[in-house]
Amino acid sequence: MSDQENALTRILDQAVQFEQGAFDFYSSAIEKVTQPHVRSALGDLAAEEVKHKQQLQALAAGDLETTVTVQKRGQIEDLKLAEYLVAPSLSEDATFQDVLIVAMQREKSSHEFYSTMAGIAEQETAKKLFEFLAQEELVHKNKVETLYDEVVYQQF
Ligand SMILES: [Fe+2]
Ligand SMILES: [Fe+2]
Repeated sequence: MSDQENALTRILDQAVQFEQGAFDFYSSAIEKVTQPHVRSALGDLAAEEVKHKQQLQALAAGDLETTVTVQKRGQIEDLKLAEYLVAPSLSEDATFQDVLIVAMQREKSSHEFYSTMAGIAEQETAKKLFEFLAQEELVHKNKVETLYDEVVYQQF
């Protein structure tokens, strides 16, 4: 396996873990609220994160040399792509408002991660998948921002 392929395997694996983490994150956030529409919004987010995980796993399961390669050697390291996939931690007694702040940060990082991947991936299929994921994470960020505004202004 080439260095580049190793770096790709590692970063895709980290992205899979991050998506799993996002699913877990929204699943436990649901426990903090009672409003049905908020619970259902968080449930939708969790479901989409699982789908992202499966899409990445499908991509990583292929022969990486044919499904996804990047333009330059060392690009994944140089662009510090792994740093986008580190979630801020949350204390046990975090309020729902705190949860939403972390959620916004996570979604912003995910969006930036996939946008960057879309920019460096060589294959059209991989590029399209990363663009799609980048777009979905941006939509997620907007949805979380809307929930956040509700929390702040209505103090539920
Ligand atoms: Fe995601
Ligand atoms: Fe997301």
